[in-house]
Amino acid sequence: METARLKDNLAGISAAAEILKADGIVAVPTETVYGLAASAYSDTAISKVFAAKGRPQDNPLIVHISDFEMLSDVVSDFPKEARALAERFWPGPLTMVLPKGEKVADSVSRGLSTVAVRMPNNRVALDIIKAAGIPLAAPSANLSGSPSPTTADHVISDLDGKIDAVVMSGSCEVGLESTVVSLSTDPPRLLRPGFVTAEELKEILPNLVVDKAVLEELQKGEKAASPGMMYKHYSPKTEVFLVEAEAEEFISFVNSKENCAAICFSEEQGSITAPTLSLGAKDNNKNQAQNLFSLLRECDSLGVQTVFVHAPKKDGVGLAVYNRLIRAAGFKVIKL
Ligand code: TXA
Ligand code: MG
Repeated sequence: METARLKDNLAGISAAAEILKADGIVAVPTETVYGLAASAYSDTAISKVFAAKGRPQDNPLIVHISDFEMLSDVVSDFPKEARALAERFWPGPLTMVLPKGEKVADSVSRGLSTVAVRMPNNRVALDIIKAAGIPLAAPSANLSGSPSPTTADHVISDLDGKIDAVVMSGSCEVGLESTVVSLSTDPPRLLRPGFVTAEELKEILPNLVVDKAVLEELQKGEKAASPGMMYKHYSPKTEVFLVEAEAEEFISFVNSKENCAAICFSEEQGSITAPTLSLGAKDNNKNQAQNLFSLLRECDSLGVQTVFVHAPKKDGVGLAVYNRLIRAAGFKVIKL
């Protein structure tokens, strides 16, 4: 099929909405990453999303809403903690897992009794949901396994010819997928870290626990609280290692290796002899989050065998950056 390029203006937004109402699939910008949107009420539309991405069949989708009225069709219960989180963080990069409403197609949640829902903080996304008049299920608009798309060009390089349209908008300001928290477990559980941090969530959910899969590889037979955590993710073709070390140790380690490149902090670039890509300043985790997926896509153009990535600290937004990097590295961590 030919993938239409739509503008992010009124005409583009209504064209996108028409395609979505007719069970088509459209890549749309959000503040986190581009999403591949489809009607959350249509099994037909959802099956097209899984086919285009090559997504594992047991990995459920996030439903996106534009206003609180839509919520009653998506979830069957909205407890007071959820309300408090929504008041503070919506529209924004926080997804909540709650009991699923009946109208949502079973194929969205892949048979689970829960549904993941968020209200994105992006004008174009909100206008498309409103114009379509239906909640939109949308995973990240990349091929399964590759880094999530933070520009329309990333979407095109993965999905051109496989989807009905892409809304050509700017690059995503957050750069990492939303924080996912389950309120369907007791205690509530952080399933995927993101721009909304564990520390911020604990102000409303003091008994929040961080799921084991956030920082560790699940062993065979272990059940994932969030199926998406099980899969190989964000992987360049080049072999990636995550390196936990102080700046000096990291620099001398990389300088002792051959046929490699480094993804490092901007302060370290001048001291490394191999080619480098800068993740951003060491203390600026938000900027690292914005840069991360573009850098992972760039790795394969460096023509080296191995990329060593200097690991950020695991607090604040750093936990989310670390979580994506350890997956990109296939859990290969070198501790110096
Ligand atoms: O920022 C984002 O969340 C982006 C944009 C497009 O909104 N979307 C996104 O979707 O990252 P995706 O499909 O790449 O990731 C969805 C994650 C997966 O890890 C999935 O397993 C989890 O959410 N998830 C979805 N429904 C769930 C449920 N009912 N229970 C537990 N985890 C769920
Ligand atoms: Mg994804």
